Amino acid sequence: MILPAPTVHVRAPGKINLFFEVGALGADGYHDVASAYQAVSAYEDVWASASDDLTIEVTGSVDVAGVPLDARNLAVRAAQLVADEAGIDAGVHLRIVKGVPVAGGMGGGSADAAAALVACDALWGTGISPIRLRELAAELGADVPFALTGGTAIGLGRGDDLSPALARGRFDWVIVTSEDGLSTPAVFAALDAHRDDASLDIVPARRPMVDDAVLHALRAGDAHMLAASLRNDLQQAALALRPDLADLLETGRAAGALEGIVSGSGPTVAFLAAGPEAAIDLQIGLSAAGHVAHHVHGPVPGARVIHDD
Ligand code: C5P
Repeated sequence: MILPAPTVHVRAPGKINLFFEVGALGADGYHDVASAYQAVSAYEDVWASASDDLTIEVTGSVDVAGVPLDARNLAVRAAQLVADEAGIDAGVHLRIVKGVPVAGGMGGGSADAAAALVACDALWGTGISPIRLRELAAELGADVPFALTGGTAIGLGRGDDLSPALARGRFDWVIVTSEDGLSTPAVFAALDAHRDDASLDIVPARRPMVDDAVLHALRAGDAHMLAASLRNDLQQAALALRPDLADLLETGRAAGALEGIVSGSGPTVAFLAAGPEAAIDLQIGLSAAGHVAHHVHGPVPGARVIHDD
């Protein structure tokens, strides 16, 4: 009798940046940032099965055409990192089902990496400590530690120096995806070029920090207050590369959103709604206008093992 290979299922969330201040560009090619992240109910599901080799398959409810299936894939690198750290000479088959838009600014690739870390750790029973797992996550990318922790959090430094933020209740969002993705380095580079052209001195007296108004709105669980304090320094650069997003932001506001914001480096746009019913109306309005719109909510937990029955 052939027994099925042991398998671990992990689910990890996508994110929206509620606030993103971009400071100076460092020698390491990363900007000093202050980010308020919220994990939302668009998920990546990863099944890790024992295998002789390291292989990957990717499907999903979103367009997965642009996803690399080799060592450029962050989930593959995560699996390799866990094997190296634990000194294990084992393979794994990673089956990824994507629900977060690809190259959309919602951290889908980072969620895959976080899920693969947790799944391989569990599959191989490595005993790597949670602190070390977070360090490995930070090696993989600036947004990977947040995909591990989830919830609502403040990220400083590259975005990976995390502290949890108190958030009451739930926030309802409608996310609108685009057919074509945007490259994160290209959006940061567009911001730098704009700052150079404008001779903006971005070595401020202070490091980037998240506005108190954001923290206050989160603690109060008040969507109207949060709408008034949303900010993303990458938005202007994303709009320069994708001028059509400005119209989309207007359409969402006209359709009843409290506010709209480009998520991370875009091009996904996140609209904040007053509550679940308002979000359903907004989703219907945006869909009727020809957009691909999904209703999600946050905060939700970070990467965690799911017990399939
Ligand atoms: O860490 P990750 O691979 O997600 O970052 C992708 C790119 O985004 C980096 O190579 C860098 O160009 C840019 N980035 C940045 N500053 C940050 C985070 C990302 O410039 N804090």
